[in-house]
Amino acid sequence: MEITSGLPRHVACVMDGNGRWAAQRSLPRTAGHEAAEAAVMDVIEAARSAGIGWLSLYAFSTENWRRPSSEVEILMRLVRGAIRKHAPALHARGIRCRFLGMSDTRIPPPLVQDITDLTVLTGDNRRMTLTVAFDHGGRRDIVQAARSLIRAGIPADQVTEATFARHLPHADTPDVDLVIRTSGEQRISNFMLWQVAYAEWVFPQVLWPDFRASHLWECLDTYRSRQRRFGDVRESTAITGEEPR
Ligand code: IPE
Ligand code: IPE
Ligand code: MG
Repeated sequence: MEITSGLPRHVACVMDGNGRWAAQRSLPRTAGHEAAEAAVMDVIEAARSAGIGWLSLYAFSTENWRRPSSEVEILMRLVRGAIRKHAPALHARGIRCRFLGMSDTRIPPPLVQDITDLTVLTGDNRRMTLTVAFDHGGRRDIVQAARSLIRAGIPADQVTEATFARHLPHADTPDVDLVIRTSGEQRISNFMLWQVAYAEWVFPQVLWPDFRASHLWECLDTYRSRQRRFGDVRESTAITGEEPR
């Protein structure tokens, strides 16, 4: 399914509700994380086939280290397994994969290696950029950008929003147009704080392991029905995030 008009350029998902999905089935929380893989792969393929250029998935936050170490360990193992299993298909489908965050030394080195390999393997692909926010924190990215500006010796009066944005990690990533947070929770949870400044938000009730292409189409329909004005009184000329001039 290729949708051409009114498509967001950059869609981001806060993949929430795995634990509740498992609890509903009297299963351990980690069963919900296992079941999340099918949703992830379905949404990646759906976004790619719809012609979305940028898809970001929030997989692990800087705050998620607070969870019991057994859950964190299983999550790391599941992510590694998914990368090893799906790397060839992601590459074959023209998807450039990269990871945002990734600075904690607690991430197991073999996982870091697999992530590096996937990033290198798919680095020249252009059909869609898939960003996995992993060990990600929006505030940490902003602090990193501030440090980078200072290290580069940029005088305070030359620090504009544009220069600041150029010092963020993955500075070439366009602003997020649409954020989908599943499970009914309505908060940012420290996700891509700079990039979501003018994003549209939708909060489907569905728990992430049940999220499928059909839910994505519903979210895209909701997005198309929104008026984006970016502070102006006119609707934006393009719903793709282009601000009125
Ligand atoms: C999201 O599901 C996955 C991660 C944060 C890693 P949760 O594990 O937060 O599931 P709930 O919110 O407890 O249901
Ligand atoms: C946000 O979900 C992080 C991810 C989806 C990876 P959480 O479930 O960790 O967020 P809170 O704790 O409800 O804010
Ligand atoms: Mg949660």
